[in-house]
Amino acid sequence: MRTQVGIIGAGPAGLLLARLLKIQGIDSVILEQRDRAYVESRIRAGVLEQGTATQLRDAGVAERLDREGLVHEGVEIAAGERHFRIDFQELTGKTVVVYGQTEVCKDLIAARLAGDGPIVWNAADVAVHDIDGNRPRLTYRCDGQDHDLVCDFVAGCDGFHGVSRQSMPADLLRTFERVYPFGWLGILADVPPCSHELIYARHERGFALASMRSPTRSRYYIQCSLDERLEAWPDARIWEELQRRLGRAAAARMVTGPSIEKSIAPLRSFVSTPMQSGRLFLAGDASHIVPPTGAKGLNLAISDVHYLQRALVAWYKTGAADLLERYSETALARVWKAERFSWWMTGLLHRLHDETSFEAQMQIAELDYIASSRAAQTALAENYVGLPY
Ligand code: APR
Ligand code: PHB
Repeated sequence: MRTQVGIIGAGPAGLLLARLLKIQGIDSVILEQRDRAYVESRIRAGVLEQGTATQLRDAGVAERLDREGLVHEGVEIAAGERHFRIDFQELTGKTVVVYGQTEVCKDLIAARLAGDGPIVWNAADVAVHDIDGNRPRLTYRCDGQDHDLVCDFVAGCDGFHGVSRQSMPADLLRTFERVYPFGWLGILADVPPCSHELIYARHERGFALASMRSPTRSRYYIQCSLDERLEAWPDARIWEELQRRLGRAAAARMVTGPSIEKSIAPLRSFVSTPMQSGRLFLAGDASHIVPPTGAKGLNLAISDVHYLQRALVAWYKTGAADLLERYSETALARVWKAERFSWWMTGLLHRLHDETSFEAQMQIAELDYIASSRAAQTALAENYVGLPY
């Protein structure tokens, strides 16, 4: 088989890349190791920067997003019983949209399968070959048979555990990593949210976040230790802990109910550079991970894809290779700033030390400063709504 761009991974990065290329008349094949039902039911984050929503609109896949997405003009930050609001609209003129990544993927898959091109589900043992020549190749197994896909370019959009990053020359790669000594325990439930905006809470018992998927579906998280087991957290215990950490006002409004999903995820900052070698280009989690505190993971995948499709389109339309050559540098400049913001938000809001420690006092002083400084609020807001492309 032959295609122009071979894409590994049907997450938001791979799916959006395929869609944007197709609009420009460039063909691709997506190889995905899981099946469609798995990809469409995976629960992921849910805050879209304004620029992300624009990308999805430009890709013609935002009809449901514009109908069902919840536009948020600010967030609430809670520190014990003290709450203050960051007004994105007023400070930056921008907003974010709350719409699940799972829904973004469903919309992109529907568009792809309506005539854009193939997604090979259950593609096993995907391997990348010949990235140094101008005919890179992907091999994989599907339906018990070996397959071969010859391409002009390979886009590695296969997430943190994918094969693409491992296919880069080892002596070229530099990785940077911070593993945090805690995780997030998340709960999804069909109950109305306790607040019309997200609440990020610093509490002496640990961080908590009140988020949502719709007016009738809530998503909450609490900081937990890394060795925590889900069995130790029946729903009632999670609700109780959320009520403590989010403060009295939120607790009073919180509607509890049975969980639809519960999970524990570790927090990690990770960047692998460069994002390109020969004809292999990485995008999204394949190249970098952020802790979820800044809501940046999905948005970074989308901005990588923006730069990559622009470079590929320029090459196909005019033969110009300069944008492709600069892809890694261009994408990483935005990645590093989002890494910084996510790391900073994580450090500001999580319990790392005893409440009597110097570090805890620094967190409290910084929150106090943000609460009272328009400059500090603007810095938070412009990062949260998304830095310019
Ligand atoms: N071969 C084929 N497909 C693979 C392989 C492989 N070896 N390894 C992983 N995949 C698939 C996964 O099953 C998944 O569908 O690649 C896809 C990667 O998708 P994501 O993990 O969603 O990554 P990305 O598209 O970069 O989106 C980043 O996802 O994890 C969240 O927080 C993250 O919101 C961010 C977003
Ligand atoms: C979510 O709704 O899942 C969510 C929201 C904000 C975050 C992280 C996750 O920072």
